[in-house]
Order: sequence, then structure tokens, then C-alpha cells
Amino acid sequence: MTTTYNIRALESADYQFVASVVDDWWGGRPVRALVHRIFFDHLNASSFAVGPSDAVQAFLIGFVSQSDPKVAYIHFVGVSPAARAGGLARLLYEHFFNVVSAQGCTEVRSITSAVNTGSIAFHRKLGFTLLPGSGEIDGIPVSLDYAGAGQHRVLFHKAL
Ligand SMILES: CC(C)(COP(=O)(O)OP(=O)(O)OC[C@H]1O[C@@H](n2cnc3c(N)ncnc32)[C@H](O)[C@@H]1OP(=O)(O)O)[C@@H](O)C(=O)NCCC(=O)NCCS
Repeated sequence: MTTTYNIRALESADYQFVASVVDDWWGGRPVRALVHRIFFDHLNASSFAVGPSDAVQAFLIGFVSQSDPKVAYIHFVGVSPAARAGGLARLLYEHFFNVVSAQGCTEVRSITSAVNTGSIAFHRKLGFTLLPGSGEIDGIPVSLDYAGAGQHRVLFHKAL
């Protein structure tokens, strides 16, 4: 059976539910503090969700860079564990690519932590390349101390 998803703009009303589930969705990692309410209030033209506000199935938070309007950035993507492996994150990414391409972006960037192997595999599948970093962990190029001491990050890039 094929499921049809309705992608809509992320809304302020989505915040409470999303904030209440993200730590679980990230496998117990405390990421809630990274999902700020301001994104739900102010990034609605470039952030998207699937499902009703009290039962969001998936969401993407992204924006066009103010420093370089040709660059778009995806900050967060999350899919409910029950809805995974069905192409939902790919759908949200492709929707984002279309929206920011229409605004003149030629590149999308994203960042993940070096321990998030699922995110690294997902981004590779979506055609992102890993930018060379200042170090390497388990064969993965990482920018050492990118987000503070000991906070290594993997930097992704994809041309649109
Ligand atoms: C990563 C995540 C967003 C993927 O969502 P999803 O809806 O299951 O992904 P999709 O079904 O759209 O997968 C797209 C492709 O990526 C691959 N993929 C997705 N997750 C993967 C994983 N953990 N390991 C390996 N490959 C993966 C899929 O196999 C698929 O490949 P295909 O198109 O060739 O079949 C989801 O697992 C999640 O929410 N994880 C927790 C939050 C997180 O880590 N977010 C990313 C960092 S911000």
C-alpha cells in the first residue's frame, strides 16, 4: 500500500508536541534544547511538517543563509520511529530542495554529530558529501571541536 503524505509549513502549534518527543526520537540523546521555539515561530517559510500538531509524524527545520543567500541549511530533521523507513525524511528533504532552489539557492548544508551514524548514512543516501575536516573518527572526516571542546561535527554539502 502506498501512503500519501501531506507536507505543510511548520507552525508554532507544533512546538509542544515536537519538544516532548525529540529526545525519544533521537534514541534518548538530550536534543530538546536544540529545537528552539523560535524556529517554530519564525522559520515557517522553509520548515515543514507532516501530521497534525498534536501528533506530528515528521518535521524539518531549515532556512536560507542570511550570510550567503545561495546556501540553504537544514538544522534538524526527525521522523517518528513508527513512520521510519518509508521515505518520509527523503520527501521532506526533496521538498526543501525544491523550495530553496526556487529562491536561488545552489547548495544545501547540514551538520551532524560524529556519533550519529544513522544521520550520516541517511545524508549519504540523499547525495550529500562529507566535507574534509580537521580530523577523522572511524574513517569519517570530522571538524574537531566544531561546537566547543570535544564537540566534533560532521559537515555535509550537496549541490542543488
Ligand atoms: C535519520 C531519519 C531522519 C531518517 O528518516 P526516514 O524517514 O526513516 O528516512 P527515509 O525512509 O526517507 O530514508 C531515505 C534513505 O536513507 C536511508 N536511511 C535512513 N535512515 C538510515 C539509517 N539509520 N541507516 C542507514 N540508512 C538510512 C534509507 O535506507 C533510504 O535509502 P533509500 O532511499 O536508498 O531506500 C530518522 O531515522 C530519524 O528521525 N532519526 C532520529 C533523528 C536524527 O538523527 N535526525 C538526523 C539528524 S538532525
